[in-house]
Amino acid sequence: MTDPTDAVRDRVLALPSGELPAYVYDLAALRAHAAAVRACLPERVELYYAAKANPEPEILAALSAYVDGYEVASGGELAHVAEAVPGRPLAFGGPGKTPAEIVAALDLGVERFHVESEYELRMLAELARQVRPGGRVGVLPRFNLPVAAGSLAGSSLAMGGRPSPFGLDPARADTVMGLLTDGTYPHLELKGVHAHLVSGLRAPELLAVAESIVDWSVRLAERHGVHLAEVNVGGGMTVDYAAPDERFDWAAYGTGLARLLARHSDLTLRIEPGRALTAYCGWYATEVLDVKPSHGEEFAVVRGGTHHLRTPATKGHDQPCTLLKVEDWPHPWDRPVVRGELVTLAGQLCTPKDVLARNVPASELRAGDRVAFGLAGAYAWNISHHDFLMHPRPGFHFLGAPGRVSGRHRVPQAPGGAPQT
Ligand SMILES: Cc1ncc(COP(=O)(O)O)c(C=O)c1O
Repeated sequence: MTDPTDAVRDRVLALPSGELPAYVYDLAALRAHAAAVRACLPERVELYYAAKANPEPEILAALSAYVDGYEVASGGELAHVAEAVPGRPLAFGGPGKTPAEIVAALDLGVERFHVESEYELRMLAELARQVRPGGRVGVLPRFNLPVAAGSLAGSSLAMGGRPSPFGLDPARADTVMGLLTDGTYPHLELKGVHAHLVSGLRAPELLAVAESIVDWSVRLAERHGVHLAEVNVGGGMTVDYAAPDERFDWAAYGTGLARLLARHSDLTLRIEPGRALTAYCGWYATEVLDVKPSHGEEFAVVRGGTHHLRTPATKGHDQPCTLLKVEDWPHPWDRPVVRGELVTLAGQLCTPKDVLARNVPASELRAGDRVAFGLAGAYAWNISHHDFLMHPRPGFHFLGAPGRVSGRHRVPQAPGGAPQT
């Protein structure tokens, strides 16, 4: 689904050039994808969406029918998600939670805390006593547990299995389990273990990681004579930007999780994918402003750039894209054109790092033609450095939304920016 869907293509070609660049999301495609993912997951696997991948309210709402809850990783995400999809279960994770964030989460009735350190555990225990004196707060300590050598090697981002700021050190696991089971913290209830170790693995490798997490967690619980109701094995399902038509094998992953669950009859597994749920439903669409040769290579400069779509710069890939011809040319001067060449698509920023895609085959590419960059539905706009060089912000279009969704957080638009539709 790198090529824009028909609905997205029509919208991109219909927009006046002054309303580009624009993010265009196909929510019908997102719903269909989420339903297909859900259908692959066996019973006793809960699906939470990691909101950090794309927290647009329309995206959160479109996913609501297919997910069991949302993973949030800051006070900002917490407030935002609670407002966008009210009443849905939230799990609060992420390192460096502040006392104010924890109190806000307790006030909002957050059901699960992924605790990242022993200090955070002490803080949560005391704040839970103060804020919810009559209740118990669900806790899943996040462990940076050891995995077999090389098992994270194919990943694009490893958060665990090696020294990192994420989660609790496995050497402290028995101490932490002791604290959570010996009555030290009466306002906390040990629900299970959380471990998000890695992003960007294919199904067989991610299953092996999930198996290590479950085995390690069950052994830990057995040592303490307690039953673990839940293990959260994290997200990390790959999106392959170099092979954009390939998909994470959800069917194989679901079958593997079912096999794992068959060995643990009273365990619930939880997964919290981000990228692999939403990457495919978004396109960053723009137009070519200029085309020119440089030292034997061809370049096209497009409206916008990596300040809107930082993903290729941060991950070092070429963003998959589709070139769309536009025959209208409103100017009295000649259109610059390149034919039969490989073209590098760069943005408007004054840095050589502002490259969206290299070596794009172009039978013909002219100023005024359009480009739709695919796989732009996750870790795209929300991880980008929007204000660098003060270009206008892109428009946002949510195709297939039941109605205009309020609560936008991007207003006001910079001059020349397009309105949301
Ligand atoms: C704790 C946690 N859970 C889930 C995710 C989602 O990962 P992905 O988008 O690779 O599925 C992340 C990403 O950083 C994370 O840190």
